[in-house]
This record gives sequence, structure tokens and C-alpha cells, in this order.
Amino acid sequence: MSISANWSYPTAIRFGVGRIQELGEACRSVGMEKPLLVTDRGLAALPVTKVALEVMEADGLGHGLFSKVDPNPTEKNLAAGLEAYHAGGHDGVVAFGGGSGLDLAKMVAFMSGQTRPVWDFEDVGDWWTRADPAGIAPIVAVPTTAGTGSEVGRASVITNSETHVKKIIFHPKVLPSVVIADPELTVGMPPFITAGTGLDALSHCLEAYSSPFYHPMSQGIALEGMRLVFENLPRAYAEGTDIEARGQMMVAAAMGATAFQKGLGAMHAMAHPIGALYNTHHGMTNAVVMPEVLKLNRPAIEARLAAAAAYMGWDRSFDAFFEQVMALRHEMQVPAGLGEMGVGSDRIDELVAMALEDPSAGGNPVELTAENLRALFEACL
Ligand SMILES: NC(=O)c1ccc[n+]([C@@H]2O[C@H](COP(=O)([O-])OP(=O)(O)OC[C@H]3O[C@@H](n4cnc5c(N)ncnc54)[C@H](O)[C@@H]3O)[C@@H](O)[C@H]2O)c1
Ligand SMILES: [Fe+2]
Repeated sequence: MSISANWSYPTAIRFGVGRIQELGEACRSVGMEKPLLVTDRGLAALPVTKVALEVMEADGLGHGLFSKVDPNPTEKNLAAGLEAYHAGGHDGVVAFGGGSGLDLAKMVAFMSGQTRPVWDFEDVGDWWTRADPAGIAPIVAVPTTAGTGSEVGRASVITNSETHVKKIIFHPKVLPSVVIADPELTVGMPPFITAGTGLDALSHCLEAYSSPFYHPMSQGIALEGMRLVFENLPRAYAEGTDIEARGQMMVAAAMGATAFQKGLGAMHAMAHPIGALYNTHHGMTNAVVMPEVLKLNRPAIEARLAAAAAYMGWDRSFDAFFEQVMALRHEMQVPAGLGEMGVGSDRIDELVAMALEDPSAGGNPVELTAENLRALFEACL
């Protein structure tokens, strides 16, 4: 892929193959002299992380690394990260990874200068104003998956290790100052992760597009983001080294996260509690519940999805859109139901209660109730 571009929306993005080489300069541009690279355990062992650390070191920024981050990271990971940050005398964070690494890294930067516990900054009302903005360290984000779009997001998802509830922690300044989006970093993703993360991006675009709120800007981004996923995810899945498809998926992921300011919906309201209780992969979980959620929402989104189908070049109908979703799921080997992911019916009461409380629930085009959510979970099992 020869395309290389600099964008300043929704933040400064340096997009293109090989641009990881600009990591040192990007850190310096936001005042870092001694950044801490924060990533998850799995990635820390891979060559991509070594390359990033080498670039930092070659530019005289040291090679600070914290990698004790679990998938679906918790406040315990955060406490350990903060300890490493302060002990090492760091002055900023390189957020490196998929959603798990990026989210936890963003929280290390955010919490490095706060005095209140992290749960006080949950995305509720104006709680974010409780934070001291001067206590937020600069963040340079480097995504290595193409899914969550957390690199352009103003929030992190942190799982409470005691209650097992996923909480969204929000602050406008959690948006990374600079993003290095280098498609080459995603080439090593195994097919399961390529599929799961890519379907997360689709779910962000689709739920944002379907949500009832007035936000035409997001609407346009969501629509084009879906097109990019339908065209490029099968290619990236079939041929991991297809750099063009990897690049387009990286953009689609950032578009999904930009669009979901407009709202998410039942897919995420369900996937959050399932992920918290069963530690399933987030994007794959969205993909499993996607068809049943579309069926529930059909009366409210029929015309809108028909328009989307026409934009993709398919028949102008809800059914055409639905069929393409099913085909993509099949191609990506998405489990047919939640049972295949280890989810049982024994905790369905908890799942329903948690989904109702989830902040994504409010964006669903059909109002979610204990009854329709229970029916959704049962249908997905
Ligand atoms: N902040 C947000 O807006 C937002 C949005 C959606 C999801 N999330 C959160 O993001 C998390 C999921 O993130 P994810 O789907 O990116 O998965 P992940 O970050 O958990 O990564 C999944 C696995 O892929 C590996 N991996 C990552 N990049 C790789 C690469 N280039 N090569 C090989 N292996 C690689 C990781 O080591 C890990 O084992 C969840 O905690 C979810 O709640 C956050
Ligand atoms: Fe998501």
C-alpha cells in the first residue's frame, strides 16, 4: 500500500506503512523525553513490540516497557501500570496494542496525576469534570489490531475485577494526542483475532448507524466504515499479508470509534457483560449476537439498512443487508451461538441485569427491556 497520509481528525493521525519509524519524533512532539510503552503480555513477546522499543531507544527516549496487561484489563493491571510509570520516572505513555493494551495504557496516562479512584471517572453525567486535566500525561497511540478504534477514542473500558462489570472511563483528554496507524503492525494478527477485531469495527459502525440520535456526521462515517469492512475484512482474513486490506481495515476501525459517539446498542450492551463474566473475545461476541439484534431492531431500522445495502451495491432491502452479514459471519467462522463460546443459560439473570445497566443499551433503536433482552440472550444461546 503506497498511501501515506496525515489527518488531524479526530486527532493527529500519521497513517501509512512503515510510519512506526516516526514514533520517537511523535513522542517528542508532545513533550515526552522518557515514555513508558504499555502493552499486553502477548504482544510484548512479538517482534512488532521490539521494533517500537528499538525506535524509541534509537531516538534517545529509553525503552520503558510495562506489559502486565490482561485481555479485558482490570483496575489491578492499572495499579501495577501506575507503579511502573512512577517508579520509572516517565513523562508520557506510548499506548501500544489492541483495545486491551491501548485502553489500559490510556488509563495509566490519565490516572498518573489523579487523586481519586478510577471508578469516580466512569462515563456518567459530568463525572469526568472531577479529574484534574493537568494530571493527565500525554499519550501517543499505536494500534496493532484493526477493531476497537480505541486509538481515536476518549474512553477506556476497564473491567472491575471484583464485580466483573465492564466500566467505561471517560475524559476528553484521554483522546491520544498523536496516533501512528501503521498497517504493517497488524500483519501478524492470527485469523481469529483479525476476524474478531474486524467484526468489532463493523459492529461499531452498524450500531452507530442504527442508533436513533441526531448526528449526521457520525452517520456518514459509519456508512463508509461498513463499506470498508465488507470489502476488506475477507481479504485481510484470507491473506494476512494483504497490506492494502490491512490498511483499509485500520482506517475502518478508527472510523467506527469516531462514529459511535452517536451511540451503540444491544450488541455492545450484551457483549460487555458476556465478556466480563466469561472473558470471551469482545469483537467475536458482538458478531455472535449481531443477527438476533438486527432481527429485534428490524422494525426501527428497516429503511435505513435498505439504504445502506443500496450504498454497498446490493439490493435495496433489509434482507440483502442481513444476508451479507450472515455471509461475512460464515466466512469469518463466527461461532453460531454463545454456547460455543462457553456461555451457559445458568447466569442469564445476571447477564440481563448487566446488559440493561450497560451504557450502550440506551443507543439501541428499539428500547431494551428485561423481557426482550432475555429473549435475545436465549435466542443467541
Ligand atoms: N476504548 C474503546 O473505545 C473500546 C471499544 C471496543 C472495545 N474495547 C475493549 O478492547 C478490548 C479488546 O481489544 P481487541 O479486540 O483489540 O483485542 P486485544 O487487545 O485483547 O487483543 C487480542 C489478542 O491479540 C493479540 N494481538 C494484538 N495485536 C496483535 C498483532 N499485531 N499480532 C499478533 N497478536 C496481536 C493480543 O496480544 C491479544 O492476545 C476489550 O477489553 C474491549 O472491551 C474498547
Ligand atoms: Fe466494541
